[in-house]
Amino acid sequence: MAGVFENGKLSKAAQILDKAAGHRLSDIVAQGDISGKAASTLLLQKVPGIAAERVLLVGLGKYGEQNSKTSIEILRAAFNALGSTAAKDAIVYLTDEDTGKNAAWVVKQAVLAAAESGYRSDSLKSKPAKPVTLKNLILATLNKPAAGLEAALHQAVATTHGMKLAKDLGNLPGNVCTPSYLATQALTLGKKHKSIKTTVLEEKDMQKLGMGSFLSVTRGSEQPAKLITMEYQGTDKKQKPVVLVGKGITFDSGGISIKPGAEMDEMKYDMCGAASVLGTMQAIAEMGLKLNVVAVIPSCENLPSGTASKPGDIVTSMSGQSIEILNTDAEGRLILCDALTYSAKFKPDTVIDIATLTGACVIALGHVASGLLSNQQDLAQELLTAGEQVYDRAWQLPLFDEYQPLLDSNFADMQNIGGRAGGTITAACFLSRFTKDYRWAHLDIAGTAWKSGKEKGATGRPVPLLTQYLINRAGK
Ligand code: BES
Ligand code: MN
Ligand code: ZN
Repeated sequence: MAGVFENGKLSKAAQILDKAAGHRLSDIVAQGDISGKAASTLLLQKVPGIAAERVLLVGLGKYGEQNSKTSIEILRAAFNALGSTAAKDAIVYLTDEDTGKNAAWVVKQAVLAAAESGYRSDSLKSKPAKPVTLKNLILATLNKPAAGLEAALHQAVATTHGMKLAKDLGNLPGNVCTPSYLATQALTLGKKHKSIKTTVLEEKDMQKLGMGSFLSVTRGSEQPAKLITMEYQGTDKKQKPVVLVGKGITFDSGGISIKPGAEMDEMKYDMCGAASVLGTMQAIAEMGLKLNVVAVIPSCENLPSGTASKPGDIVTSMSGQSIEILNTDAEGRLILCDALTYSAKFKPDTVIDIATLTGACVIALGHVASGLLSNQQDLAQELLTAGEQVYDRAWQLPLFDEYQPLLDSNFADMQNIGGRAGGTITAACFLSRFTKDYRWAHLDIAGTAWKSGKEKGATGRPVPLLTQYLINRAGK
């Protein structure tokens, strides 16, 4: 793979290939078969003078005009074009400096793009999807690789492994990926990595802890709820951990406040917060990051039945605060609040929860940015920066006190919904009542965790953001 700019100028690597090929490449470009427009591609076979079977020319757009968005589009187009060939090995000459971005960034994004285009979710098909032929990928630089490039490569590879785990879990149907299945996956991660210790609490344990809010959500389900914790120790035990809390609703029907039928299947993705936490744990364990991280995953189903919670029911959370359940479909906050209270036991430096929490977040931010709310501006900024760095972006919404009264209840300490206005914010306000004792941020990934329609599938987000945040922290 080598690049061509929009004016027909070949990238440095392409110039070298062109010379070897007796200027065949520049002839083809001059003929106008590839415009050089960003993300255009042209596959050439058996170019004389070049040992490789194929040369893939990739349009880089106007020289010096690439930005993060176009650079990623270029890489994706390149790997998609490569994926339509039977190539087993590929050398990518796009990490070259003249593609605009710095080499470490391009290496990371190239690895993410390669993994994305090679991803299949076919474990439940009787015949596998079209297999991926690519086995070896070389990311080449023309000059001696800059310092840090190898580290960027390892980080990127670990990130893709974490994303793959998150995608696989997200894509599995609700009848396979149950709370018990998630618990088994967490135990498996604990066996695979010495640095991870997994424990699973059962409903009777949660009863003892007083998790009346969490338990109210699982009442309609036959599947047992699980509270999964994974403790990753990458440094001195005394160092306070970051706690990641992931919403693990393995199917959200809405409960008695049942959802409309259209696209309800997508509520199997309501455990993508949990999946991203599992994926991030896998990534940091693989990298051996020098910090301590705890994962806390409350997991259950939200189903209607004769034993299910009803609108108007009042429950007591582990914090002692009572909650009037006005809508059983606002269940994420009910399981998260107890998990957040429980998290204090790890004496955290920082707690971040990740949840497909509100449809309102999809209305506010679409499918581009995750919603971010925090009780500490410096933490919010660190997460925004990490997301920007790895291009898995979040956008901050306010947690102003003025929103809090929307949760007032006549009968309990609070109600579980705040009305249609500012739905993402009032959901976070609800959580904020359980996170007063530590630095906390909330990521609402309702719009970013999966894609709908023809491309339906989990995205693996925000594993890159979380992993980058932890890499940055470990480096400090
Ligand atoms: N899991 C949903 C949020 C959701 C909906 C994510 C659609 C992605 C797409 C959550 O449990 C939920 O149902 N939230 C309700 C809250 C409302 C009842 C206050 C919602 O957003 O409609
Ligand atoms: Mn719901
Ligand atoms: Zn939900």
